[in-house]
Parts: sequence; structure tokens; C-alpha cells
Amino acid sequence: MKILAIIGSPRGMEGNTGRLLEEVLSGVAASGAETEILSLRTLNVQPCEACDVCHTTGVCNIKDDYESIKEKLLTCDGFILASPNYISSVTAQMKALFDRCNGLIHCMALEGTYAAMVDTSGSGEDEEVISYMGRFVNTLGAYSIGGIGSPVAGIRTFPDEKNLFDNARKLGGELCRCVAERQAFPEQDAFINGFSARMSGLVGIMKESWPYEREYWEKKRS
Ligand SMILES: Cc1cc2nc3c(=O)[nH]c(=O)nc-3n(C[C@H](O)[C@H](O)[C@H](O)COP(=O)(O)O)c2cc1C
Repeated sequence: MKILAIIGSPRGMEGNTGRLLEEVLSGVAASGAETEILSLRTLNVQPCEACDVCHTTGVCNIKDDYESIKEKLLTCDGFILASPNYISSVTAQMKALFDRCNGLIHCMALEGTYAAMVDTSGSGEDEEVISYMGRFVNTLGAYSIGGIGSPVAGIRTFPDEKNLFDNARKLGGELCRCVAERQAFPEQDAFINGFSARMSGLVGIMKESWPYEREYWEKKRS
């Protein structure tokens, strides 16, 4: 089983979010899964230019690290998104990646995969960020298995740290269990099915301009 972790902190794994992610990954490793960390700090992911080329050809027009990240997302069994809370949302690095995933979202190309979310903050509102990342996961067609978040108590330390780290390791193990057992999340199906109807409808309307996505949906339906 391959679990990919993408961290959007400008501090990479050396910051607070990296510290919490380490514990989640330790739970993943304890379940016997293979892990890979992609730190957006050291990768080049430029903002989306809205050229629509991904919809036409399936490949982004910007020559940076996005396509290799995309391939890793398409071939992993599960993934983890980790971001600090920046003004009640994810970092610009993570948001740039989300926007670049627009073609994957139109195809809901990660259907059948599972994701967990990690967030840290100065003073809270962790749920808001986790829930935003979870919505992104659902637009990709994947299931969100839940998230963990915490304000910090200092550099790479947290209040009630033992309990937090226990829960972080449990989340990593739970991600692997959900992948292995193909866990159902019926409460997420309403959104995913509605979004799927919306995306296939949109691609249907744009079928002359977006042949890649039209063919993708034709294959998916057959
Ligand atoms: C630009 C910026 C914006 C931030 N915005 C918020 C915020 O809105 N709410 C909050 O609680 N913390 C905020 N913080 C604090 C970070 O979320 C917090 O320090 C986090 O643990 C940093 O994680 P890192 O060390 O992994 O980068 C902000 C920090 C920065 C640098």
C-alpha cells in the first residue's frame, strides 16, 4: 500500500505541521504501508493560468513539478494533505496545487482513493481548514477519512501533546484500514454523486472544446 503525504508549509517538515504529520505517518508506517512525503516548499508548483489546456489534452501547459505530483496522486492508494492555517485557509503553496488539480477534479480522477488531513494553527480554527481540504478531496472523487488539527504551544509543541500524537498515529492507521477494507462513506456520497453529475454535465456542454475530458467520462461510464 502506498500513502503519499503532501505538505504545504513553507517550513516543510521542519515546522509545526511537519511535526504533527510525522506522527500521522508513524501510524501509517506501523500499518505496514509505504510512505512518501512531497514538500511543496522544495517543489515548483506555479499558479494555474486558466488556459484550459488540461481539459483539452489531459496535460498541464505549465512546465514545473505539477505533472509529477499528479502522477503520484494517481498511483497512490491513499494520501494526506497537510497545511498550516493561513488566514483561515491553506497556504498559497497548497492552494496553487489545488487549483492546478482542476483537470483531475473535472474527471473526478481520484475516485476510489482515500485521504486524511493535517492542520496546525496559531490559535485554532483548525476545523475550518480541515473541512476545506476535505471538500477538495471529495471534488477529486476521493473519500475523506477525517483530519487532525491543533493550535501550537510553542515551536513544534502542542497542548495536550500525548493525546494529540496518539490520535495522529490512530488517524494514520485508520487511513490504511480504510484503504485496505474499501471503507464506505455513505454520508459523503451525496456530495460526490451530485458533484459527479455536475462535472460530467459540464464536460458534456464543453465536449467540442475539451476532447480529453469528454473521452475520459465516456470511458468512465462504459
Ligand atoms: C501568513 C500566516 C498566516 C497565518 N494565519 C493564521 C490564522 O489565520 N489563524 C491561526 O490560528 N494561525 C495563523 N497562522 C499561524 C500558523 O498557522 C501556525 O504558526 C502554524 O502552526 C504554522 O505551521 P508551520 O510551522 O508548519 O508552517 C498564520 C501564520 C502565517 C505565517
